[in-house]
Amino acid sequence: MSRNFYVTTPIYYVNDVPHLGHAYTTLAADVLTRYRKLKGDKVFFLTGTDEHGQKVEKAANATGETPLELADRVVKRFQSLWEKLGIDFTDFIRTTQERHKKGVSELFSRVMAKGDIYLGEYEDWYCTPCETFWTETQLIDFKCPDCNRPTEKLKEESYFFRMSKYQDALLAHIEANPDFIQPKSRRNEIISFVREGLRDLSVSRTSFTWGIPVPGNEKHVIYVWFDALANYITALGYPDETADFTDFWPADVHLIGKDILRFHAVYWPTFLMAAGLPIPRKVFAHGWWTVEGQKMSKSLQNVVEPNMLIDRYGVDAVRYFLMREVPFGLDGDFSHAAMVHRINSDLANDLGNLLNRSTAMMNKYFGGVVEEPGEFTGTDLAYREKTETLAGLLDSCLDDLAFSKALQVIWEVISAGNKYIDETAPWTLAKDPAQRGRLATVMYCILESQRVVFHLLFPFMPDTCRKGLSYLGWEEPVSERGIAWGGLRPGTKTAKAEPLFPRIEEKGE
Ligand code: MSP
Repeated sequence: MSRNFYVTTPIYYVNDVPHLGHAYTTLAADVLTRYRKLKGDKVFFLTGTDEHGQKVEKAANATGETPLELADRVVKRFQSLWEKLGIDFTDFIRTTQERHKKGVSELFSRVMAKGDIYLGEYEDWYCTPCETFWTETQLIDFKCPDCNRPTEKLKEESYFFRMSKYQDALLAHIEANPDFIQPKSRRNEIISFVREGLRDLSVSRTSFTWGIPVPGNEKHVIYVWFDALANYITALGYPDETADFTDFWPADVHLIGKDILRFHAVYWPTFLMAAGLPIPRKVFAHGWWTVEGQKMSKSLQNVVEPNMLIDRYGVDAVRYFLMREVPFGLDGDFSHAAMVHRINSDLANDLGNLLNRSTAMMNKYFGGVVEEPGEFTGTDLAYREKTETLAGLLDSCLDDLAFSKALQVIWEVISAGNKYIDETAPWTLAKDPAQRGRLATVMYCILESQRVVFHLLFPFMPDTCRKGLSYLGWEEPVSERGIAWGGLRPGTKTAKAEPLFPRIEEKGE
């Protein structure tokens, strides 16, 4: 049954150009989107940029641009990367857009009208890179407990959100909805954080101006996280009750990195409760990538630039590697050696080679034309069954956002294909004219299993799968219909495949 599905990525700060971490979340959202669409769902996939706040203002000062000039320049870098990475988003929101500013002001006004935002005074330690206030006891040597950078003491008049009021309701919600915060270890962290007690949250600033003004008091700009989180609803048209809003809110899943979980699992739901809006169904925090064993950072000059990776290895190899190498939710390490190894073993050897040898055999034995299969034997049936159960397995992997596991189970079918060829030995059958019917059956199974695989692998590697399917003579667009066994018609013309992934020389080979 078709349903509506709403997936989001964080909106990225424009003080920095896109790196591996940004590409990772956006890619995961894309895979999920393509998968849900393949299954016939109506999907809204939102990404965008976070353009307000002191951090962006400071970066603009440093480059001598206005914050908006900086944003206009950097946003293009994100958009062109998403195009190059094959990201199929529905909408791209920029927090400097009118639609967003209007929605945020309205959200702020409504929460204030309810009495949940009040004017007070703030004195605390602020970490600008994290855009976060800390109490003195939270600091470690007066440094930010998250990023270990110096903090500064700020005292200012500020509006406060009555977050404390929602502590019990939030806790009850988290406890009643075990899937709301994932993975589980992160959920436990949030539960202990909330149990320790929620303080009211400062939601405005007067120390700089680059932001959305507080309605009715222009001395203040709205706190950048209040502004940013609201993107998930302003993009759907909030405060207007648009069709998108009705169809897609609450979000099915907010995909984020582990460092911004508290904002999404504590602040955001309490803002929504105050505004009388439903809470997102799931917040999933993935882990962080290190690079060749080290933290990725500008000062170490080891920031992995996704554009460079795509130029070097190709878009689908990058997509495959990022989704396969590390289970979603855990930290992982990027290294060129690991990347090259995956390309050679999984992509060139297993996937590419299977297509190659099977289309070559088709050419040789049948002039590339698919023959009617005969009766299936035990080996054929086992291979067919392995192929047919894949769709169900993938469903449960993707429900759990277990991307790496999903690729693993797809690869089991690919390996089964290579093994099936070795066992059935078509080259021996081809020597005996009496075995021609048997050979046709074997070749049919080999092609048909790959056709199904290319459908199910499509969300991960769209270009490769389109190519693979065209070698198999499959002209239809990729859709749910194509997942079922038996789609390949006798008479179809296949073509000998060029290598999908040429091998790359491995150091030390
Ligand atoms: N603007 C906020 C998000 C607002 S969402 C309402 C923000 N932006 S960010 O550009 O700094 O970071 C965006 C995402 O990149 C975060 O989810 C973060 O976890 C992710 N990553 C940054 N470095 C990363 C790695 N090294 N590895 C994986 N993800 C990383 O935060």
